[in-house]
Amino acid sequence: MLNLSPLHVALLLLLALGTCLVSQTSGTSQQPNIVYILIDDAGWGDFQTHDPLMVSPNIARLRQEGMFLNQSYVLPMCGPTRSALLTGRYPHTFGMQDNTVGGNKKFWMNETFMILPQELQSLGYTTHMLGKWHLGYCHPGLTPLGRGFNTFYGFWLGSHNSYYDHTKGSGRRRRIYDWWDGDSIDWSARGQYQTDLLSARAVRIVEESSPSNPFFMYLSYGAVHGPFEVPQHYIDTYCAHVTNTSRQIHCAMMAALDEGVGNVVQALKRKGTYDNTIILVMSDNGGPIKGGSVNWPLRGEKKSVFEGGVRSYTVLKAPGLAETNVTWPGMVHAIDWLPTLLTAAGGVRPDYTHGKNLWQSMTRNEPSPRTDFIYNVNDFRRFNHIAVRLNKWKLLGPVPGLARNQKWTPGFKIGWYPPYQLLDRGVPWEDMKRKYSTSQYLLFNLEQDPEERNNVYNDPRNADIVRQMEMKIEYWVGQPGVLDGVYPLQPINTNPDRGRNNNGQHLATCWCDPPGFADRRNVCPAQGRNGRRRGRNRG
Ligand SMILES: *[C@@H]1O[C@H](CO)[C@@H](O)[C@H](O)[C@H]1NC(C)=O
Ligand SMILES: *[C@@H]1O[C@H](CO)[C@@H](O)[C@H](O)[C@H]1NC(C)=O
Ligand SMILES: *[C@@H]1O[C@H](CO)[C@@H](O)[C@H](O)[C@H]1NC(C)=O
Ligand SMILES: *[C@@H]1O[C@H](CO)[C@@H](O)[C@H](O)[C@H]1NC(C)=O
Repeated sequence: MLNLSPLHVALLLLLALGTCLVSQTSGTSQQPNIVYILIDDAGWGDFQTHDPLMVSPNIARLRQEGMFLNQSYVLPMCGPTRSALLTGRYPHTFGMQDNTVGGNKKFWMNETFMILPQELQSLGYTTHMLGKWHLGYCHPGLTPLGRGFNTFYGFWLGSHNSYYDHTKGSGRRRRIYDWWDGDSIDWSARGQYQTDLLSARAVRIVEESSPSNPFFMYLSYGAVHGPFEVPQHYIDTYCAHVTNTSRQIHCAMMAALDEGVGNVVQALKRKGTYDNTIILVMSDNGGPIKGGSVNWPLRGEKKSVFEGGVRSYTVLKAPGLAETNVTWPGMVHAIDWLPTLLTAAGGVRPDYTHGKNLWQSMTRNEPSPRTDFIYNVNDFRRFNHIAVRLNKWKLLGPVPGLARNQKWTPGFKIGWYPPYQLLDRGVPWEDMKRKYSTSQYLLFNLEQDPEERNNVYNDPRNADIVRQMEMKIEYWVGQPGVLDGVYPLQPINTNPDRGRNNNGQHLATCWCDPPGFADRRNVCPAQGRNGRRRGRNRG
């Protein structure tokens, strides 16, 4: 007769629980691989399907084998978009509505929830990150390896002085190197073109992947963000036909990236896993006009809440699409990708996300359940703007209750800027003033007026819709952490040199101590005698 003590019972329960957890978390070969390709600062018109002078044939092919998402929205800047993509939450609810954690800044992304790679790990995925992180590095628990990526190859900052030297900062003494392989500084990258480095590593990850274990690859290119640099052979091979110099460099930077996308596709095909791989290609925000980007015919550029700043050129290729070579016209916002991709991976939508699971709607080519969203609430520094969407309507204006600014700023270049070949044919370059008075709201009917040319706010027939949208604004600015002056951003220190290693040659971590993260990747040395952490030389 089996005589079980309470201890035995507890042990058996633990064993049973363990088995259950194991069977829940082990990946199956049915789960698709996910390749998430994020392009930096690519405008709506920077792809060959929107501007025939551009060269992006591999992305165009993915669009034919998959779908083009015609209403895919992001935030107007990279840090906010990246935090929304990875957390599935509106960035203004945790202090990420502006680029506040990018470099040696005194903030980190305070987000106590799991983020996408952690969730995918718990579904059995191996997770890889390549390229630009830009979400904080003052503690190892905040770097990609601390936030759910099994491997990391790339850089912690937002952009570099050069695509070849991987440094940031001006002057020889202040130049600081930022290229990592795992958590070790990787000097071997010096002198090599960033886009090529990332594409080559991405191919290697595919080649070394195990067909029985799904992987997630977040391939976050620094291109086509400035500085505008590209190896001459990309210009000669792909973009000799482009006569405008800045547009030609832009074309070649995109062509280099597109060639990398093609190489990853070929590697997946050689591996035999292409058909079971989701490939998502999108831009993190609109392009900067001065850098040769084109968002035309959309209005505005990067940093603006006009469509040119936030409507992202997005392509989705996935197994099981009901129709391919079509445009999916549904709305999808950056916050939706976390629940959507988790669903595709066999998981469920977590409670903490503000996003919706759109996986079934996308794959069946059905209408999107997303019918409204908030573009952003930005009350930081130079900005004061809020924009909301409800079906075809878009309302823009100042952040209510923000006394600091009398005027509000939807962005910097907020007119319409056609590509040079159209300028040459007489299509006008139209600049607009940047600031509006606090009493001036803008309402657009995007279905009739996707270029946001006709403000219909004062049309009395729209009074009802305006009231409904103002209620949404009131709801969002009334949420905790928004506009109460105490953002969930944590001050760390104000000395940027704390982010360097001791001899100042490369970036370093271990210069902050965020509660809740210390235990995640607890590899910092103990406090120094005077109570300050010493920057750790991680070379
Ligand atoms: C996609 O959106 C653009 C701009 O609003 C519009 O001109 C175009 O007709 C749309 N395409 C499809 C297929 O819906
Ligand atoms: C996709 O559609 C276009 C026309 O809309 C056609 O020219 C092209 O051949 C199609 N591609 C595929 C792979 O079906
Ligand atoms: C290139 O095109 C831009 C508009 O996209 C224009 O402002 C600029 O003057 C052009 N540069 C040259 C050298 O033609
Ligand atoms: C994040 O912010 C919230 C709200 O301000 C705060 O209660 C919490 O302690 C913060 N978490 C971390 C890890 O800093």
